[in-house]
Amino acid sequence: AAAEKGGYEHFMLKEIHEQPKALTDTLRARVKTYSNKTIHLEEIGFDASWAEASRVVITACGTAWHAGVVGKYAFEHFARIPTDVDIASEYRYRKPIFNPKDIFIIISQSGETADTLAAMRMAKKGGARIIAITNVVGSTLAREADLVMYTWAGPEIAVASTKAFTTQLMCVYLIAMQFGSLRGTISEDELTGYIDALEQIPAQAESLLAHKEAIQRFASQQFNKTKAFFMGRLFDYAISLESALKLKEISYTHSEAFAAGELKHGPIALVDESTLVVAICTQSALFDKMDSNIKEVKARGATVLVITYEGEPYFDGTADEIFRIPRTLDPLTPILSVIPSQLYAYYASLQRGLDPDKPRNLAKSVTVE
Ligand code: G6P
Repeated sequence: AAAEKGGYEHFMLKEIHEQPKALTDTLRARVKTYSNKTIHLEEIGFDASWAEASRVVITACGTAWHAGVVGKYAFEHFARIPTDVDIASEYRYRKPIFNPKDIFIIISQSGETADTLAAMRMAKKGGARIIAITNVVGSTLAREADLVMYTWAGPEIAVASTKAFTTQLMCVYLIAMQFGSLRGTISEDELTGYIDALEQIPAQAESLLAHKEAIQRFASQQFNKTKAFFMGRLFDYAISLESALKLKEISYTHSEAFAAGELKHGPIALVDESTLVVAICTQSALFDKMDSNIKEVKARGATVLVITYEGEPYFDGTADEIFRIPRTLDPLTPILSVIPSQLYAYYASLQRGLDPDKPRNLAKSVTVE
């Protein structure tokens, strides 16, 4: 078993460390350089007709749904297409309205989640075209979708998803940018710039991982906090959702995520000295808004961890602790900003004497309804 874990103590830590390579594999197959760098999705059967969609609908469960939340923001940002995102188990029991020009993006690591498959089949019946993002070749989702984009993350064994999530994000960005370039919402030069930024991300993830001891140390001081709140705005909100899920899954800490603007609409009532607040702050235009949210929770006794860019002085005076991620474009930060939270959850789980690979009551793939 030690050999299977490649020298790591747990599959989860191994898979966290495999992210730079997994991200490279996911990206490399889809980018080509002729006179300019361009995205190539022909291998999955994608052509310009797909970009004529009037709407994109993303459905998924769990961590994959969080990739979908990033997807909504990314599609609006890069491709200017109206985009909905919904939890598959909600979607399938609603009375959704289909349009023949809808494109569905169904995200699932396993490609076998029962609710996700049910939502896909419903959309298909409604006449929509389906793009699957999945990690498992030949899975039910892969077989039934119209187009399949594989995440090339390799087998993910740990119940808590890490490398499957970040490679799902990579796929979502590539599809959103390809839609944008076909729809003319991003220019050739912009596309080159975006691809350059995506290409830097694997090495940036590697350099982030090289500082994991700082997170381990922080976890050893904070693991016994009874509540953990994650807050952010825009892309940071999506990563707050995923960060809170990771922590609750494997450390059993009561964790919640909310859009930072919602702080005063409820969550602040729960903030006290026993609360860890993780403020994800990578959306530069909203730093001042995050800063006032941080001051509000600090005034009520919370310990605040800020996740922001390297070299960014904005939160120096206010945070109790800062983890830094390498600088990239603000809409692309999710792939990097989730990594400190993956590590924090892992080390908090260890500190609590738990096995992060085998969380109680959870399954890797939920094939029942
Ligand atoms: C389970 C797993 C999660 C996963 C979710 C969706 O809850 O524990 O890690 O995100 O199912 O799984 P899928 O295979 O559809 O991505």
